[in-house]
Amino acid sequence: MGVRFKGWGIAVPDRIVTNDELSLTLDTSDAWIIERTGIKERRIGGSARTLGALAGQRALDDAGLKPQDIDFLVLATTSPDRMLPATSCLIADDLKMNCPAMDLNAACSGFMYAVRTAQGLLETGNKRILVIGAEHLSRWVDWTDRNMAVLLADGAGATVLEYDPDGNDLLSSSLGADGSAADLLTCEHGGFIQMDGKEVFRRAVRVVVDSAEKAMFDADIKSEDLSLVIPHQANIRIIQAAMKRLGIEMERAVVVLDRYGNTSSASIPLAFDDARKNGRIKVGEYALMTGFGAGMTWASSVVRWS
Ligand code: COA
Repeated sequence: MGVRFKGWGIAVPDRIVTNDELSLTLDTSDAWIIERTGIKERRIGGSARTLGALAGQRALDDAGLKPQDIDFLVLATTSPDRMLPATSCLIADDLKMNCPAMDLNAACSGFMYAVRTAQGLLETGNKRILVIGAEHLSRWVDWTDRNMAVLLADGAGATVLEYDPDGNDLLSSSLGADGSAADLLTCEHGGFIQMDGKEVFRRAVRVVVDSAEKAMFDADIKSEDLSLVIPHQANIRIIQAAMKRLGIEMERAVVVLDRYGNTSSASIPLAFDDARKNGRIKVGEYALMTGFGAGMTWASSVVRWS
């Protein structure tokens, strides 16, 4: 059976925070942040609910669908508005949906985990799933901590996945998790996000390369067959290192972290949206979507656009 991507939408806060603005209150600089991360500015504001609902509505509009056409809402978020209820229920209410809704937390791999989960839901009889990645990470950032404040940001992206007996866009998925690395990137209840940046960096490159190679093997394609790589947007140096090890030129990677920073579950759909607006998504071509994050978790999928 097949799965089709039917429509996409994104939402980001209006408020742009530049590196220079952060440098006013933190011992950092535009030059350091750009050199070590590639980030120039980020969007701050909204909530997982408001950003997620807007991105979800835009994905429905893009697909030419109504909320009532959706059988299931899966929200990937690591920064839900409340502990209870799930933010997906709040978004479902905003969108006037009356289908099952649930949150999924796989940190920055969340969007790809949600896509794979949606594929499973389609395999068991649902017709259309709305998948949203929405984050309000700024709420969990200690704005006096330069290690985290320069990296994380807010945003949302969404897609509709539809059952199709005659074709398939989602060719393979390779997912994983390693809870022994939990303390490398963590946030306690009522606390702030903390990270061992160097170790996360080292492991991120490894899991991206390993899961990407597995996803390509399962899809029976080689790296030279990929026209596009849509990676999680954490750090330009992680993307460069992974692309090098995969033997793929950087020109084929989509990079939006310079404008959006690290938006966790939202970063892959934000990158997809940018690629589409710039005419980089072409029918029949292969792309790799790959993410990694706290957990640690990782997830790579090979897709072929229809
Ligand atoms: N501005 C200026 N200096 C900073 C800084 C900042 N924002 N953050 C750290 N520094 C300093 C450090 O204190 C250190 O100073 P010291 O040498 O005097 O001790 C120096 O810069 C180098 O720090 P280091 O941690 O070695 O930098 P790095 O090159 O490893 O870059 C990260 C730090 C966080 C950018 C990098 O490790 C990273 O991106 N890791 C992965 C993070 C990630 O992707 N997380 C999300 C996963 S989903």
